[in-house]
Amino acid sequence: MIEGGSHVAIGHGKVILLGEHAVVYGRPALAAAIGLGARATAERADHDVLTIAPWNVRVEPSVDPGAPELARAFAAVLAQYPEGRPTLSVAVDVELPGGAGLGCSAAIGVSVIGAIDDTLGVAREPRARADASLAWERVFHGNPSGIDGTMAACGGIAVFQRGQPLERVAPREPLRLIVGYGGEASSTRAMVESVARQRDRAPERVDQVLDGIAALVRNGRLAIEAGDHAALGKLFDLCQALLSSLMLSTTKLEEMCDAARRAGAFGAKLTGAGGGGCMIALVGDASAAPVREALAPLAAQIFDVEAGAP
Ligand code: PMV
Repeated sequence: MIEGGSHVAIGHGKVILLGEHAVVYGRPALAAAIGLGARATAERADHDVLTIAPWNVRVEPSVDPGAPELARAFAAVLAQYPEGRPTLSVAVDVELPGGAGLGCSAAIGVSVIGAIDDTLGVAREPRARADASLAWERVFHGNPSGIDGTMAACGGIAVFQRGQPLERVAPREPLRLIVGYGGEASSTRAMVESVARQRDRAPERVDQVLDGIAALVRNGRLAIEAGDHAALGKLFDLCQALLSSLMLSTTKLEEMCDAARRAGAFGAKLTGAGGGGCMIALVGDASAAPVREALAPLAAQIFDVEAGAP
């Protein structure tokens, strides 16, 4: 679990409950922070450097288009601070798998910005921190909706829509999810571009699917507020079918969703960009252990999370 502390800045990982991809096109999405994420500290140093110890990564900022993404993302963040600021060493610890649809890059970006803010005495609201993280996210994702950075900074469960205030959602009952990472990393940029190409070719068909997903989001919010997990699970299943129709699912994701449903989950779907990465299954106290067991032979990693938990 990620814990706060003096000068430790947090970025939450997240799951998208409903609404991925549609959110890129201005529709609402329902997302929840999870109790896994990134934390960062910063201190003055003789030059700028970013280290991510669990990945054995150490980069200096660079604007060279051929430089590693992390070096360019670090440079994009630092460029937002005044010239002549002290140079900094930023150290990040991360618990999330990368490229899995759990908002790993945004969690790191938000924690890095938080650590720099704390060290330089910059005070800003979480949503402003999320906005600042867009420059970081663009390096990895091209055209991010901003949902990952917003959840990384703000936490909780919320309906996110581009350009609108974040709407907090209060669950009537705790929402327990089993997250299965299939072990196939996926590229959010590639999956977002694939949907864009399909939409160029068949705008009406794709927009109908995106509108269908938006309707699921509105109903999902009501189900969460009513504590109706059976209804929410059905919405997960419907959303998975719509996402599959956009060719975002994989055999592995389908197998994991099927296994979770057969083991008693209320519903299951891919989460995030798809094309690999993670699925989420909504479970109750009785189905959590059977679903974990059913996923064990299929998943590379399994996480048991409470949606919206700090
Ligand atoms: O970064 P991921 O894999 O969690 O996916 C983000 C969700 C998308 O809707 C696919 C893209 C976006 O920017 O909203």
